[in-house]
Amino acid sequence: MKNIKIINKKSIGIFDSGIGGLTVVKEIMNLLPNENIVYLGDTARVPYGTKSKETIIKYSLENTKFLLNHNVKMIVVACNSASSYSIEPLKKILKKIPVIGVIEPGAKTVCEKTKTNIIGVIGTTATIKSNSYKKTILKYSKSKKVKIYSVACPLFVPLIEEGWMDKIYQEKYYQKLRLKRVDYENYYNRIINHEKILKYVASEYLSVLKQKNIDSLVLGCTHYPAIKKVLQDVVGKKVVLIDSAKETAKKVYEILKLKNWLNDSFKSGSIEYYVTDYPDKFKLVGSWLLQKNIKNVKKISL
Ligand code: DGL
Repeated sequence: MKNIKIINKKSIGIFDSGIGGLTVVKEIMNLLPNENIVYLGDTARVPYGTKSKETIIKYSLENTKFLLNHNVKMIVVACNSASSYSIEPLKKILKKIPVIGVIEPGAKTVCEKTKTNIIGVIGTTATIKSNSYKKTILKYSKSKKVKIYSVACPLFVPLIEEGWMDKIYQEKYYQKLRLKRVDYENYYNRIINHEKILKYVASEYLSVLKQKNIDSLVLGCTHYPAIKKVLQDVVGKKVVLIDSAKETAKKVYEILKLKNWLNDSFKSGSIEYYVTDYPDKFKLVGSWLLQKNIKNVKKISL
């Protein structure tokens, strides 16, 4: 019994190549506010999506070892590129510690939501090349006629890491800080330009999918919710965007509940942030994405 209590208080370890995994952190914080979290963003080596399978597995193992040294009870691979290749290798080394990725939750959800069974998937080059979504959707789809069209969008992650995202993120964040538009007028004009350029890039990537009449689009990269509005504008209102962050959070809850490992503390959980480079940039861009002030970010080497 005593042992279970100690496990309950341990943290959930979450990693991504950069800020993308914060979209998953946000949902876990909403659903499980008492849980402690240790987040690692491998910002020195972002993007993962342009790297080979071997390199991505190597990075994932290193990230996991770091999190294990921080006393975690579970590992969440909040990165589609890493989830595409490293869940099985990680399961082998973790044994008693559960590990989940973001592919299964997203694939399951799109199978439930699609009505026409014509599905689009966007992600990094590594994720699309792995066919991880295709395989998982085929596993869960009830229709034998399901059609899946995939497109790699390698420019999105570097842009989002630079802070180019839907302008609503900065607007809401600065409102929370009680800043008025005039206080960041010059910067605001740049944000508007960023959104225009993002729309241009997205139109080029998504033009193929628009011709296929998809009814749902899987955001197969945890960075992409940062540009959800731009993507929705480009594909049109009728297409349902599937973001696996919420479903991943539900899966975390299910696993912890089943193991009786949920943190039963009345206090809000704590969160520690670690990055492998540029902590200040992570603090700023991450705060926009999370809509919360990220204060302490420690730079570490793996
Ligand atoms: N957010 C990650 C993903 O879901 C990583 C993208 C990258 O580093 O290329 O794939």
